[in-house]
Amino acid sequence: MNFQEEMLEKFRTSRNIVVVTGSGISAESGVPTFRGADGLWKKYRAEELATPRAFNSNPELVWEWYDWRRQLIGKVEPNSGHEIIARMEDYYQEFLLITQNVDGLHRKAGSNNMVEIHGNIWRVRCTHEETITYLEENPIGKLPPMCECGALLRPDVVWFGESLPIEGLVKAEKAIRECDILLVVGTSGYVYPVASFPMAAKAAGAMVVEINIERTPISLVADFTLLGKAGDILPELWNRNPKK
Ligand code: OAD
Repeated sequence: MNFQEEMLEKFRTSRNIVVVTGSGISAESGVPTFRGADGLWKKYRAEELATPRAFNSNPELVWEWYDWRRQLIGKVEPNSGHEIIARMEDYYQEFLLITQNVDGLHRKAGSNNMVEIHGNIWRVRCTHEETITYLEENPIGKLPPMCECGALLRPDVVWFGESLPIEGLVKAEKAIRECDILLVVGTSGYVYPVASFPMAAKAAGAMVVEINIERTPISLVADFTLLGKAGDILPELWNRNPKK
């Protein structure tokens, strides 16, 4: 890829970077994206299943979908894209990863300083007591799983129409306002508030760089859109960075 020198220079000299990721970063690990051709499950779209309404009317179906995703994710490994993002954390004085992914692959690749803004598929929450636990069983067994208190357990993820965890959101928004570079990887840019981060970062003076296999609404805001697979472009970009 022919990277522009001006962009590389900014990656070399900046001290504060925020990386935002979506399901595209995990695509090369074998996790289906939400809106891609392989995003359907039993003819359902994610937007039809990842809602409180779907869970209330058919918890078993929603759990079946999450259980399918957990089994799939349980078998896959982080890819070179996740690995480069984990390495970036060591080289910038200020670093925050904001991921919309619930798959836990960033943590598996070694990322620590991050906000999982849509939750984590490996955690469950009691719908009555709000207690959070990790479910060791995979697959879970009888669906839907129940808490010891007798209430339904739900995945500890954010569904459409639900608020994002306030602590993570505040941290993310502060980082967005303060960063020198916002690197956005593998997200379609349709889901708010994350979809508003590129514009907010740019308004605050950051360079916005997008990596995606195709152009998205974020491309209109980005200073640079690098078209290609995250697992190819991120290592290439990092190899051009003398800090590594
Ligand atoms: P989407 O499925 O909407 O978008 C995935 C993006 O990744 C698309 O723009 C693809 O072009 C891009 N992509 C695919 N493969 C790629 C690759 N190898 N390298 C780089 N880019 C690639 O997924 P998200 O943007 O993550 O929310 O979706 C955002 C949220 O909507 C999700 O967190 C989830 C979803 O429904 C909730 O569940 C609340």
